[in-house]
Amino acid sequence: MLEIANLEVVYHSVVRVLRGVSLRVDEGQIVALLGPNGAGKTTTLRAITGLLAIHTGRATKGTIQFQGQELLRQAPEWIVRQGVAQVMEGRRIFGELTVEENLTAGAYSRSDRGWKQELQQVYERFPVLAERRQQQAGYLSGGEQQMLAISRAWISKPRLLILDEPSLGLAPQIIVQVVDMIRAIQAEGVSILLVEQNAAMALQLADYGYIMENGKIVLDGTAEELQGDRDIQEFYLGGEGAERRNYRDIKRYRRRRRWLS
Ligand SMILES: Nc1ncnc2c1ncn2[C@@H]1O[C@H](COP(=O)(O)OP(=O)(O)OP(=O)(O)O)[C@@H](O)[C@H]1O
Ligand SMILES: [Mg+2]
Repeated sequence: MLEIANLEVVYHSVVRVLRGVSLRVDEGQIVALLGPNGAGKTTTLRAITGLLAIHTGRATKGTIQFQGQELLRQAPEWIVRQGVAQVMEGRRIFGELTVEENLTAGAYSRSDRGWKQELQQVYERFPVLAERRQQQAGYLSGGEQQMLAISRAWISKPRLLILDEPSLGLAPQIIVQVVDMIRAIQAEGVSILLVEQNAAMALQLADYGYIMENGKIVLDGTAEELQGDRDIQEFYLGGEGAERRNYRDIKRYRRRRRWLS
């Protein structure tokens, strides 16, 4: 459904932050993209959704095929109309608009009028949003804003939903709600690309995962394979020494371990 091949991205025409990234999302799958701060995860998502240019970024190599169509160098609005919806890092809701205005903004790209039914479904799922439908969204709690942001993307009826760190800054019981919602969306047949720092949460949801470091994919495998990988456990899943070695370069670490043994 989505296939990225050999993607290179530079910012300001000089800083090369993606260096030959390839990954794929198959129909109905949840795919996790994991990695430390600055690895290039958000940049990868910007390339998919056509938002590189507004961040002074540009793809210098590679292709991004979505259902057989090239996404690179297309306008963001066109990409949304192909069925790609994104929830950006940091819950980008419209704080000054009401909850309901935020939700109907999600229906903007749809050609049919069916969204009223979905709006109703959102309110049934999250009664808080129904109660506050006429209030400014900026006054919602962090968790409520995240539910609103995901609901807004869902209302656009995407084929592919892209989530950039949906668990960031949320309390554990709210993360459970986010996880439930992501599962429910997948059950409707939507494919999901999930960027997370919370590897445990992401691998619990995902079918397949990629680890990105320094603009490259350094490891990939099924969620079970990654969960069973000693280094993933140590660096990403809070195993022994995870605190101390927090997110050091897995690749470099493996090379050194091979050399020592
Ligand atoms: N607009 C920009 N101009 C220049 N450099 C940028 C820009 N946006 C991001 N970068 C740089 O590109 C690299 C990758 O950033 P990116 O935001 O893609 O990482 P990330 O994996 O999403 O990190 P995080 O987990 O912190 O969100 C970083 O070194 C970052 O400083
Ligand atoms: Mg990011």
